[in-house]
Amino acid sequence: MKVKKNIKPINSPVVLSTTFSQDVPSQWGYSRVDDPTRLALERELADLEKANHALAFSSGSSAIACLFMLLKAGDHILCHREIYEGTRRILDKILKKFGLEFDLIDLKKIDEVKNKIRPSTKMIFFENITNPNLDVINVKNITELAKKNNILVAVDNTICTPIFQKPLLEEADLVVHSLTKFISGHHDVLGGSIMTNNIDLFERLKFNQQTLGWVLSPFDCHLVSRGIKTLDIRMKKQTDSAFKIFNFLKNHKKIKKTNFPGVSGIISFTIGGKNTAKMFLKRLKSIKIAQSFGGVESTILHPGSMMVLSSKIDDNFFRLSIGVEDPDLLINDLKEALK
Ligand SMILES: Cc1ncc(COP(=O)(O)O)c(C=O)c1O
Repeated sequence: MKVKKNIKPINSPVVLSTTFSQDVPSQWGYSRVDDPTRLALERELADLEKANHALAFSSGSSAIACLFMLLKAGDHILCHREIYEGTRRILDKILKKFGLEFDLIDLKKIDEVKNKIRPSTKMIFFENITNPNLDVINVKNITELAKKNNILVAVDNTICTPIFQKPLLEEADLVVHSLTKFISGHHDVLGGSIMTNNIDLFERLKFNQQTLGWVLSPFDCHLVSRGIKTLDIRMKKQTDSAFKIFNFLKNHKKIKKTNFPGVSGIISFTIGGKNTAKMFLKRLKSIKIAQSFGGVESTILHPGSMMVLSSKIDDNFFRLSIGVEDPDLLINDLKEALK
């Protein structure tokens, strides 16, 4: 049989080799350090955020930990008062032991931010749309203040996604993602990423990452890369559906409060009445009760029973992630469950 030459795959090949043969001995050739599948994905991730450099991590949490490890004992971080509970645990339960200090403040009150800056403040960290309350933080307001004080700005863009905002274009120094959510989009891979234009930060992050081994495996890189191909159309569909569902919830007599930033597919809401949360959840059929968000299947989180929380939250509060299903089907599901 004649083998056709010059076969060009449309997808990047998934290379499972952990080591690579060398023509002449060199220091290159181990996949914890450089891996062809990961490098191909990192190029795609950099393009998504219009960044010069990107790194792919084994989870959003390892990316965030690596980001904080740019700092040293005695350095101080300012965070928005609402950050993902896991991020808070990294700071409070792990990095505090190594001498990193942090304050949780309201980054929307710029005077409060000014007052909280110390000589040792080296980073401001926040989610531009927070999880789970969906607070919106203005990136430009923070970067303007930070530049004047020589402070790095790192933005967790997981909920907003680069389809709706690219924080590096607003002078942020670093962007971090849980790839587990919208970017991969199918609830089938855990991953994280950091993007930056600053070569010095990139090299320090890369050193920490390869030394600690917090890298994404080749097959997982492939899954993330496959998700990226449909990110744009998924986000448009999920956001359009979320608008429809938000309007339904906003006008429903049993809903006390709703929040929808108008980008990406996440809505938060609070039901009225006492002890109604469990019954509502039990009646849902199409919308799945699940921890994660950002996938093609709609999921709902009830923080009151599904998260270890460091602050009190209304027991009737929910975070709803809209997938790509027919929005009318989802509205009907909610309507029935709210009866
Ligand atoms: C906003 C945000 N950042 C980071 C993370 C952590 O990502 P991972 O679960 O991939 O470690 C999460 C997880 O839910 C998140 O919601």
